[in-house]
Amino acid sequence: MKEFDDTCCKGLCALGLALTLLLWVTFAIAKDTGYEAARWYPIHFKPAIDKAEDEQCMACHAEVLAPSVRKQSPAGVEADKSLAWYQTLDTYSGDQDTFHRRHMTDAYAKRVMNLRCNTCHQGHDPRAEAPGSSATSQLSGYTLRKQVDTKTCLMCHGQFNAEVMGLQGGWTQNREAMGNNCLLCHETIRTTRHHVNFLKPEAIEAAGKESGDSCYGCHGGRAWYRIGFPYPRHEWPGMDKEVPDWAKNRPTRSDLRFQMDSVKTDKPLAAVVPRETAAKPVRKPRLGVTKSPGSKKGTLNVKGKTNVQ
Ligand code: HEC
Ligand code: HEC
Ligand code: HEC
Ligand code: HEC
Ligand code: HEC
Repeated sequence: MKEFDDTCCKGLCALGLALTLLLWVTFAIAKDTGYEAARWYPIHFKPAIDKAEDEQCMACHAEVLAPSVRKQSPAGVEADKSLAWYQTLDTYSGDQDTFHRRHMTDAYAKRVMNLRCNTCHQGHDPRAEAPGSSATSQLSGYTLRKQVDTKTCLMCHGQFNAEVMGLQGGWTQNREAMGNNCLLCHETIRTTRHHVNFLKPEAIEAAGKESGDSCYGCHGGRAWYRIGFPYPRHEWPGMDKEVPDWAKNRPTRSDLRFQMDSVKTDKPLAAVVPRETAAKPVRKPRLGVTKSPGSKKGTLNVKGKTNVQ
């Protein structure tokens, strides 16, 4: 009996040792290659994310820019028959597309913007999904359970600041009188603008000459917020040296991380974007959106009564 106990004990010990070893080896391997390792890959976080190239993110996240809109929602709504108010802007073209593609690869986005992954993604905490919860999450406070600081969005999705422009009411009330032309005033006012690494300043001016809808699109026409962005107020030629009261607390330069000289490369994303499925037909608004008397196409006016103001 004693003999049996001995062998049994030794056997058990050996087995236990072998199992521990196996477990350890498994963890050691998994640590380098597994899903968790990828999820916690340092490039997601500060400081590495500041230097990240889009290509590096795309190595793992190619799906983010793949065309992936359903033809039909599970409840039966057909994608090509639904149109939101902001999609009736003159600048909107093509079929329904994903958020990331609308900002990075679609025609209008490529024309006027140069957004990169880290323009919006600045690091987050996958464990707590809360700001300030780790040394590697974003420095600026951001909303709980959001992975992006919404202040970034506000720059292009805030309200039209009619008050500082001396315009009564919003743009929709003034557009007609101004010939739908922001450059009427902005040919000479605040002319030092858009010199940031996520915009294409010359292309924006050209688009603004074609239609005020381009300018308005980023300055009130697609406003998800009830406030406007407190833009930096760059000195411009002919500027009055006296600073108006409302502008006293405004910065006079763009946020450091957006300044032009902080751009490293300008590699076209096209090289890493998955190929389109098929050529898309140009899309015409199908819902009977009311035309405004203001502009010939007038599609912007949908914000007027029935929509968010
Ligand atoms: C080595 C592969 C890899 C690289 C490189 C990588 N990621 Fe990730 N990322 C992952 C994995 C895996 C996850 C977890 C996905 C999940 O849980 O659905 C993830 C999650 C995310 C999430 C969602 C986080 C969450 O908690 O839901 C974001 C946003 C993200 N990555 C952005 C980026 C950006 C921006 C870059 C480039 C700076 C990048 N990733 C580079 C693998 C990678
Ligand atoms: C215009 C800002 C913006 C840009 C540019 C951007 N993202 Fe995002 N991304 C977002 C937002 C907003 C979310 C949703 C975050 C949330 O749910 O809190 C998101 C979500 C994600 C997620 C989570 C999975 C998903 O699809 O919801 C991944 C992964 C991701 N982004 C990767 C990338 C990569 C890679 C790039 C560059 C090719 C990129 N993003 C560029 C704003 C942006
Ligand atoms: C640099 C300017 C810019 C920034 C920053 C920006 N957007 Fe946009 N956004 C645009 C433009 C321009 C369009 C219209 C694209 C089009 O019509 O093709 C748009 C469209 C959208 C749409 C509509 C997409 C659709 O399918 O019609 C949503 C939603 C949106 N943005 C949300 C966000 C959020 C959330 C953020 C912050 C994470 C953000 N945007 C940051 C410029 C910006
Ligand atoms: C009647 C003249 C006039 C017209 C038309 C006009 N603006 Fe302005 N705008 C101004 C003035 C004046 C300011 C304030 C200048 C200053 O900083 O002292 C201003 C400021 C701005 C600012 C900065 C606001 C801030 O909070 O710092 C933006 C953005 C802007 N305009 C966009 C537009 C867009 C887009 C249009 C067309 C849709 C437009 N403006 C049409 C006169 C005009
Ligand atoms: C794709 C979005 C987009 C479009 C289109 C656009 N803007 Fe802007 N605009 C911005 C952003 C973002 C900023 C803030 C940039 C920064 O931080 O310096 C800005 C800043 C400004 C400012 C403040 C300038 C300053 O003192 O720094 C004015 C004025 C302005 N835009 C007018 C216009 C006019 C006029 C047009 C049309 C010709 C136009 N915008 C088109 C996104 C846009």
